[in-house]
Amino acid sequence: MVATVTIDPRAPLYELSVDGKPVINPSRLGFDLHPGGRLQRDLTVVEERRRDRDEVWEQPWGEERLIRDRHNELVLTLKEQAAPGRLLELHLRLSDDGLALRCVLPGAAPVEVLDERTEFVLGGDPLLWWLPAYGFARDEYLYRCQPLSAVRDEPRGRALHTPLTVRTENGLTLCFHEAALVDYAGMNLAPQPGGMLRCDLTPWSDGVKVRGDGAIRTPWRTVQVGRRPVDLINSRLILNLNDPPAIDPAPFRPGKYIGVWWGYILNIWDRVPGPHYGATTARCLDYIDFAARHGFDGVLIESWNQGWEQWPKVEAMRFTEPSSGFDEAAVLARARSSGVHLVGHAESGGDISHMEISLPEITAGLRRWGAKVVKTGYVAAQPGLVRRLPDGTTTHEWHYGQFSVNHHALVTQTMARLGIAVIAHEGVKDTGLRRTWPNLFSRECARGQEFNAFDVADGGNPPEHEATLAFTRLLSGPMDFTPGIFDPALKWLRGWRGVQRRLIYGRSRVNTTLAKQLALYVVIHSPMQMAADLIENYEGHPAFQFIKDVPVDWERSIALEGEVGRHVVIARQERGGRDWYIGAIGDGRPLDIEIDLGFLEEGVPYQATIYGDAPDADWRDRPDAWRVWTARVGAGDQLPIRLAPGGGQAIRLVPLA
Ligand code: NOJ
Ligand code: CA
Repeated sequence: MVATVTIDPRAPLYELSVDGKPVINPSRLGFDLHPGGRLQRDLTVVEERRRDRDEVWEQPWGEERLIRDRHNELVLTLKEQAAPGRLLELHLRLSDDGLALRCVLPGAAPVEVLDERTEFVLGGDPLLWWLPAYGFARDEYLYRCQPLSAVRDEPRGRALHTPLTVRTENGLTLCFHEAALVDYAGMNLAPQPGGMLRCDLTPWSDGVKVRGDGAIRTPWRTVQVGRRPVDLINSRLILNLNDPPAIDPAPFRPGKYIGVWWGYILNIWDRVPGPHYGATTARCLDYIDFAARHGFDGVLIESWNQGWEQWPKVEAMRFTEPSSGFDEAAVLARARSSGVHLVGHAESGGDISHMEISLPEITAGLRRWGAKVVKTGYVAAQPGLVRRLPDGTTTHEWHYGQFSVNHHALVTQTMARLGIAVIAHEGVKDTGLRRTWPNLFSRECARGQEFNAFDVADGGNPPEHEATLAFTRLLSGPMDFTPGIFDPALKWLRGWRGVQRRLIYGRSRVNTTLAKQLALYVVIHSPMQMAADLIENYEGHPAFQFIKDVPVDWERSIALEGEVGRHVVIARQERGGRDWYIGAIGDGRPLDIEIDLGFLEEGVPYQATIYGDAPDADWRDRPDAWRVWTARVGAGDQLPIRLAPGGGQAIRLVPLA
C-alpha cells in the first residue's frame, strides 16, 4: 500500500494505491474558515516529520486482547504563502489495513469551520452499502446497496452515514469512517460525480459546522482496505488511531444482562403504572431471581421512574423518583442479596439540555442503585436534540453534530468518574473512543432487534440485515443489538388472549431462525450483551445453555469468511480460557459452506457443541426448528456448516486435552 501527498498550488492532494493499482485518486484537502476564508491554495511545506511505529498494546476488554499497531507516519506542516500565512498540519498514517489522515489547524483564537473540503476520489462507479444521513430516524434505517451514481439520484442519497462500505471496480472492499471524533462534527459522505465522496460535516442549527476556541483537530479520516471483505472486520485501524486509556479501566467489567424491556417493545407492557405496567415490583424481583439463577450480571429496568406519563414530552422525567408500581427498596435489596447489579436507564427523549441539567439527579439515582452500567437514550426525530440557549430560546440540533458529540463526552466522563459504564441508544456513532474511555461500552446507532417488534411499515429487519451490519455498522465498534429472541414468530404473544387486544403491530416478527439468534452472540461483539427475550421464553429451553456459556470478552477474534449482506463466519476465543466459539449467519437463502479450523491449537482434539438450524428450518414458517449435536474436531479439519434460509449456527469448541 502506498500513499502519496502532492502539494499542488490549487490544493494539497493525497492518493492511495494498493498492489500497484490506484484506489484513491488524487483527492483535495482544505477548509473554509471564519474568520480567514478558504485555506487550501498556495500552501508550501515548512516542516516534514516521519515516524514509524510497531507495537502491541493490550485492551482491557474487547474483541481482542493484544492489538498490533504497525504504521508509518508522515506529518507535514503547510503554510499559506499569502498573508496571513496560516498553518495547516497534515498527519498521515499508513498501515497494512488502510490509510488514516487528520488535519490540525494550530491557533489560539476562536475559529469556526464552515466547511471541511476533504475528498475521497474513487473514480468509476463503486458499489455502496449506504444509510441516509439527516433522516428523521437518525441511523436507524435499512442499508441499501447501489452504485454511487444511482445513490446520487436517490432523494435521500445526498449525504450518507459512515462507516460507509464500498466495493471498488477492481474488487476491493473499502470502508470509509472516522476515528477519535472529539469536539468536532460527525462526518457524513456526499456522493459526487466522478466516483467521488466528499466530506459533509453535520452542521449546528445555524449552519456552522465546528466551533473551536483555539487549535482544531479533525478526527482521523479512515480508509480501511479489504482484499477480502472479512479483512475489514479483522482490521483494528480505528482502535489504533485512538489514544490510550484516560482512566483506570479496572472498574469496567464486561457482562451479560437481561431486562424488563422486550415487553415494552412488543407493546404488551405499559411504561406507566396501570394494569399492564412493565416494571412492577413482582416482575423486577422475578427478573433478578432469574438472572441470579442463570449467572447473568445485570438486570435492566426501564420505566421504573416517574415521568413517562407525559412521553414524548420529557421535562417531567424524574430520574430518582420511582413510579407508584415500583418498590425500589425491595428491588434493591433483592438485587444486592442476589449479587446482581441493576442497569440504570436515563431516557432523554432528545432533550439534551434537560438531561445535562438533570445529570446530578441521574448520577444520584445511579449511585443509590450501585449501578455499574447505565443505558442512555436520545429518542427524537432528527434534528431533534433540544438545546436551550441562555436567552431562553430553544434550538434543535442533529444527533451527529458537535453539540451532541460534546454532550456524549460529558456523559461518558461524568459516568467514568463514578465507575459507571455507558450504553447509548440513539447516540453518536462509534469512532473507537472506548480505547480512551473504557467505560464507553456499547451503543445502538443502527437498526437493532427492536425494529422486529415495532416496525409494521416495513416488516422489521430483513434476513440479510445482520450479515450487512457485520461489514458496515459493526466495523465502528460494539453494538447493543439485543439478540436472543427465542420466539421469532412471536407465537407466544399472538397466542396469549390477554395480549391480542394490545397487539397493534400485526406483521411484527423476528425474521431469523432461533439458531441465528444464538449465532449473533458471536457475530456481534458487545462487552455488555443482552439476552433480550421475556424470561418466560428462556425458562427450561435447552438452547438457552448457549447464551449462558458464550463469553462477552475475547482473547482473539477472526472473521473467517463472508460477503457483505450475504453471510459471515466469525471465530472468537474466550479471554482467559482456551475455548473457541464460532458464529455463522446468512441471509434469506440457504447456504452450505466449509470452515477451515486451522486456528485451533495444533494436535488438540476439541469437542464441538453445535447449535444449528434443523433440516426443515426456515425463517418464514419454521423459525424455531433448531437442534444441537456434537462432533469431535481438530485444527486439520474442515467443518461443514449448513444454514437454513434466514438461519445461523453457533458453536462452542472445548479442548479435550
Ligand atoms: C429506544 C431504545 O432503542 C429502546 O431500547 C428503549 O427501550 C426506548 N428507546 C425507550 O428508552
Ligand atoms: Ca433505538
